[in-house]
Formats: sequence, structure tokens, C-alpha cells
Amino acid sequence: MTDVMQNTRFTNLSMANRFALAPMTRTSAEADGTPNELMADHYEAYAKGGFGLLITEGTYTDDRASQGYANQPGLINDAHIEGWKTIVDRIHAAGSKAIAQLMHAGAQFQANHYTDQPLAPSAVQPKGAPLGFYGDQSEWQTPQVMTEADIKFAIEGFVKTAVNAKTAGFDGVELHGANGYLLNQFLSTHFNRREDSYGGSLENRLRVVVETIKAVRAAVGDDFAVGIRLSQVAVTDPDYQLPEGEAGFRQITEAVRDAGADFIHTTDGDVHRAPFVEGDKSLADVVADVDGIELIINGGIDETNHQDRAAAYPGSLLAVGKKALANPDFVQRLKDGKEIEDIDFAMLQPKATIENELAWRRKQAA
Ligand SMILES: Cc1cc2nc3c(=O)[nH]c(=O)nc-3n(C[C@H](O)[C@H](O)[C@H](O)COP(=O)(O)O)c2cc1C
Repeated sequence: MTDVMQNTRFTNLSMANRFALAPMTRTSAEADGTPNELMADHYEAYAKGGFGLLITEGTYTDDRASQGYANQPGLINDAHIEGWKTIVDRIHAAGSKAIAQLMHAGAQFQANHYTDQPLAPSAVQPKGAPLGFYGDQSEWQTPQVMTEADIKFAIEGFVKTAVNAKTAGFDGVELHGANGYLLNQFLSTHFNRREDSYGGSLENRLRVVVETIKAVRAAVGDDFAVGIRLSQVAVTDPDYQLPEGEAGFRQITEAVRDAGADFIHTTDGDVHRAPFVEGDKSLADVVADVDGIELIINGGIDETNHQDRAAAYPGSLLAVGKKALANPDFVQRLKDGKEIEDIDFAMLQPKATIENELAWRRKQAA
């Protein structure tokens, strides 16, 4: 057995192995964001399937504009906390750890239980079309520009939901700073056209991220894992690059560490992709070069390359997305030398819900 299957420590947590389930939105909560039994069964399958850590799907953080998709779960009230507690208890009972991904949609806003008005750093729409497997909206709305009060409210939402995650029994939180959602929008020169202290230079564009991490850390204490997921690309813009390049991403990494984060979870099309305007380093390479911050890698990890990836980034966790969806018992299958399936995107049609996945599985089995 390889090192990747050995017990490991990550932040303050002891894990059965180095495999993490990547966060994947399933739009299967109740209409008011309450997590349900279907979700508990879903997550338990990955814990029983051998993943040392489950990072749960992007979960909204306030009762204004943070929700982006219909039937997305929230973590903002007692019913949400209770629903997640059931899920986390079942994950823990199966021997895995659980980290909640906290997400504010910002401009990537398709449906919301509380408001029709998206809020974002600037009045800029995402590129391309809304995501069909999360809803049937035909075009993006123009978001309203966030005031300083709106920004404070959004940060407070991350703080309160991080505390709620702790109450629900989660082992940590991951702030969603990737893929074009709110925190990523502040970093992005496409989405962020502000001329105040939250826009312009990278230091200014980083301000919301830094303020959020500091406030979350102060609220949850030191014994609770706090990290952030980062990418350059957005789901609506797979080619976006930071104008500040590799040096800029290093600046982000150091600022995030100094604000009190334990880990950065990089995501890209492939762990090894060199995505910067210059140079041949990957996002993961930059984080791995910086002392004092732990790393989760993601992007194209599979049965053929996981050992190479694990060796290239010692001590990192390996987050698996699509291969895990196709094989909830991905880790157990690796251990047993069993065949690993490829994803069939039909399982996410017409919407990426757990119910549609189960219907697809029943059809396969028939
Ligand atoms: C159905 C689906 C839902 C996703 N939802 C999220 C999400 O909620 N948060 C997030 O950060 N990434 C999300 N992702 C991206 C995955 O976490 C992961 O980064 C991506 O699939 C690439 O990893 P892979 O090559 O192992 O699949 C989603 C991906 C899929 C396929």
C-alpha cells in the first residue's frame, strides 16, 4: 500500500488517508436550504467508501444574496444546523472527517430563496450562460454593486456560518474563494472594477478575503480547521488569469496564511497545469513553496496518477471530484484493486441532483 493510504495529520485533524471528496453541489436540499435524509445517505456513501475527508458542497452563508442555486443547502439557522448535524454524525460514524464549504454566489446567482437581486463587487455579469444543470435560467442578471455595509454583512455571514458549522460538529470550514463565486470575484479583475479600497491593486482586491479569514478565525478559535479554496478560473470563465501572475498568487497565498488560514485548496483543470501568464508552475506548486500553510490539491486526480500527485506534493490531501461521483467507493476500490468507472454526465441530467443520480443508477442496474 502506498503512503497515500496511510493515516495522516492535516491541520489539527487525524485522517484515515490522504483522499478527500471534492466539494460538489447537488442542489438536493429542501427549498428553504435544510439538508435532508437523501443528502445524509449521499455523504455517508463517500465516508463508507473510504475517503479520509469529505468537503461538503458549497453552502450559503446568509439570508440575503449568498444563495446561488435552487435547493442549495444553507447553514444559517437551527434547522440547517440540525440537518447538517445528522449528516456530519453519519460521516464521523463511518470514520471520516468533515469540512463544510461556505459559499457566497455573488454575481453567479441563478436562484435564491430570499431575494431576486444578486450582489457583487461590481455591476458585471459573469461570462457565458448560466449553468444548465443547476437550473433553467437563460441569462445572468446584472448584480447590484455591494456597498461597504453589504460587504460587512457578507463577511458576517461567513463568520456566523463558520460558527454554525462548528456547532453542527464539522471539523473545519473551507471558504469558497474559487470558481468565480463572491470571494473569487473580489480577486478577479473581470468581476471587480471597484475604485475604493476593495478594488484596483491586488492588495485591495485581497482585502475582503483577508478580512473574512481573520474574522472567521477570531470567531472559531485556533482548534478548528479554516481554509480557503482558490482558483484563477471561474465556472463561467475557464481561461481567466490573474494579471499579477505567479507572483500575485504567491502574494495571495502569503496573505491568506498571515490572516490565519490553515490550508489552501487549489483547483484547476489538472493539478500540474501551469496556468499563470508566465512561468511553468501550477497553483499547487506556488502554495507548496510557501511555508506555514497546508495544501489540498485538486484537478484530474484518478486511479492512474494519484501516487505521482501524492509524491509531488508531500503532506497534501488529494481531493477527487468526478471520479468520486462515478465511484463513491473510489478509495476502497483502489485498496481492493477493483475497476474504477469513468463519469457518465447523464447522471447529472437534467439537473445535478441526487435524485437524478439515483434514477440513473437504477437504470444502469436494470
Ligand atoms: C456536479 C459538480 C458540482 C460541483 N460543485 C462544486 C462546489 O460546490 N464547490 C466547488 O468548489 N467546486 C465544485 N465543483 C468542482 C469540483 O469540486 C472539482 O474541483 C472539479 O470537479 C475538478 O476535480 P476533478 O477533476 O477531480 O473532477 C463541482 C463539480 C461538479 C462535477
